[in-house]
Amino acid sequence: MSRPDPILVDDWHAVVALQILRARGAFATRLLGIRIEIDRVGSDDVGVVRCDTGAALPARIEYGYVFTSLGEPDRDVVHFPEWHEADRLCVSGSSVGVHVSGLRAVENFLDLGHFPFVHTNYLGVEPHTEVEPYRVTVTEENEILATECRFFQPHSSPSAAGGRMIDYEYRVCRPYTACLYKINPIEPARKDFIALLLQPVTEERCVVHPCLAYLPHGLDTRSLRAFQQLIFGQDRPILENQVPKRLPLDPRAEIPARSDATSLAYRRWLTAQGVTWGAIPAPA
Ligand SMILES: [Fe+2]
Repeated sequence: MSRPDPILVDDWHAVVALQILRARGAFATRLLGIRIEIDRVGSDDVGVVRCDTGAALPARIEYGYVFTSLGEPDRDVVHFPEWHEADRLCVSGSSVGVHVSGLRAVENFLDLGHFPFVHTNYLGVEPHTEVEPYRVTVTEENEILATECRFFQPHSSPSAAGGRMIDYEYRVCRPYTACLYKINPIEPARKDFIALLLQPVTEERCVVHPCLAYLPHGLDTRSLRAFQQLIFGQDRPILENQVPKRLPLDPRAEIPARSDATSLAYRRWLTAQGVTWGAIPAPA
């Protein structure tokens, strides 16, 4: 296995849901190939150590998860303002291990084109398969932003009462972190928020830690979590069947149909930042 890239070593990564840690008292997992253990210390404090050296690692609690880093983070845990808006229903947990690179999971999350075929009758339906042109930019903060995305969705959210065009925006904040904003079907002036925090376990395995901040109309934690699990249950077999399991960064390598603008931007952006772990770098 190759050495993880400095940008990944020095980043924060979600490694366990707080509710799991509270129930079990201690939790062992892998981060960037290194075995780590997370322990409860006192009522709501946590300690993280790497098992190979015994060294204590930094820890933060955000969005219902424990975050840690194998290096020296020069920036904070990613910031999601929507999570802190008082009237939203915020749900995290239900993390799922997936046998594929976390970079593949991010790319799949950014792919509008798979909706009618993978999330049939929920996030898409034939014959509405056309991905309309949209804008992709890299911001001053070095995040990828895809805007003006639109897609016909028969059942866009657990609160949706029928099909309609749904406006989307995507944001890739860190190599293993992406989020999306989609119009709420009942309150279309505001957007529901979904983030995926990918824990890089090995180069070919990840844990998907979801983070949802929805407008609460008619929803409760259970219905929102059930919808998210249903949708991700449709993605998981597709992800685990991807070959190769690492993400090819060569722009000439296979690209998912249609949503190629965001996929290409993501692959270029990873290459520019020296991300190779979980990827197959483009030939020089
Ligand atoms: Fe999907």
